Amino acid sequence: MDIFAEQTINSFMASKILIIGACGQIGTELTMALRKKVGSNNVIASDIREGSRELMESGPFEIADATSFESIENLVIQHEIEEVYLMAAMLSATAEKFPMKGWELNMNSLFHVLNLAKDKKISKVFWPSSIAVFGPTTPKNDTAQTTIMEPSTVYGISKQAGERWCEYYHKKFGVDVRSIRYPGLISYKTLPGGGTTDYAVEIYHEALKRGKYTSFLKEDTELPMMFMDDAIKATVNLMTVPSEEVKIRSSYNLAALNFTPKTLAEAIKKHIPEFEIDYAPDFRQAIADSWPSSIDDSRAREDWGWQHDFDLEKMTVEMLEGLKEMYPGEKQE
Ligand SMILES: NC(=O)c1ccc[n+]([C@@H]2O[C@H](COP(=O)([O-])OP(=O)(O)OC[C@H]3O[C@@H](n4cnc5c(N)ncnc54)[C@H](O)[C@@H]3O)[C@@H](O)[C@H]2O)c1
Repeated sequence: MDIFAEQTINSFMASKILIIGACGQIGTELTMALRKKVGSNNVIASDIREGSRELMESGPFEIADATSFESIENLVIQHEIEEVYLMAAMLSATAEKFPMKGWELNMNSLFHVLNLAKDKKISKVFWPSSIAVFGPTTPKNDTAQTTIMEPSTVYGISKQAGERWCEYYHKKFGVDVRSIRYPGLISYKTLPGGGTTDYAVEIYHEALKRGKYTSFLKEDTELPMMFMDDAIKATVNLMTVPSEEVKIRSSYNLAALNFTPKTLAEAIKKHIPEFEIDYAPDFRQAIADSWPSSIDDSRAREDWGWQHDFDLEKMTVEMLEGLKEMYPGEKQE
C-alpha cells in the first residue's frame, strides 16, 4: 500500500537525508518510504549492522557508529546531508539490562546530531521520543502533552532528558529539531528491537506460526499503540510542514489506538478462531505499569494536522495479510 499516494515529490525539498539506525524496526520502513518519495540516492541509510535485503539493495548504505561524532560528521560532509533522522537507540527493555550503555548511546548520538545542526552542518533533525517519558506519577488516561513526567526507566530518563535538550537547542541556537513521542509501534516488515510493547508484534507471528501465544504482559495492561504506516506518515508529515507550524520543540504526543493483550487476542481470534493466549508477566510488566494507557495528542492534530488511519481491526487484517507469506499454510477465516 502506498501511504503517500496523495503527496507529490514536490512537497519535499530535494535535500539529502541521512538515516542513522536505518536497519531497525522504524528505520527500515522510514528509509523505504523516504526513498520512494524523494528518490533512492537522496536517502543514505546507515547503521552499525547490515539490514534487510530490501533495504540494502534499495539505495546507498554506510556502516557508521552513532556514538562516534567523527563517523557521523564524515557521513554528513561526504554525502552533503541536509536532514538527519536519528533512529539509533537502545530500547526500554534492553536498556534496563545495560543501563550505562543505553544512556551513552541514547544521549551521545543525540548530542552529536544536535551539535552538527548547531554548527549549521545540517539544517533539520528528526529525533524520536517515546511514551516512556511518562512515569508512575503521570495521570494514566488521556495523558496530556504537558503533565507530570517522572520516568522510572533508563530509557525513559534518556528520552525525557533528550526532549529537554532538543527544546534547549531550538531556543538557544535555533536548531530545527522535530520530535514525536511514539507509542508502541506494530509492523510486520521488521521485528521490534527490545521494547516493552514488542508483545503486540510477536503475538501476530505466534498466532500464525503456532496458534497460541504467551504474553509477557498481563491481560488487562492497556497501552497506547500505533500501526507502523501511521507512524511513518506522522514522521514524514512533521518533517515536511513549515517550521513555524512546529510549535512544540521538545516532542509531540501522538496517538492512534489503545488496547490490552486480551483485546488484541480477541481481534486476532476473529480471523483465527482457534488462537489461544495465556499470560506469564515478566520484568516488562513493571515498565508497562509505569506508562500511560492512553494519550491526548490534540496538539499534533491542531498544529500539523495529524490523523491516524489504522484502527485495531484494520491493523489486524494488514498484519495477518502481511505475515502470511512468512508463515504459509496457516488457515485464516
Ligand atoms: N519501536 C517502537 O515501538 C518505538 C516506540 C517509541 C520510540 N521509539 C524510538 O524510535 C527509535 C527507533 O526505534 P526502533 O524500534 O526502530 O529501534 P530498533 O532497536 O529496532 O532499531 C535501532 C537501530 O539502531 C541501530 N544501532 C544501535 N546502536 C547503534 C550505533 N551505535 N550506531 C548506529 N546504529 C546503531 C541498531 O542496529 C538498530 O538497527 C528509537 O529512538 C526508539 O527509542 C520506538
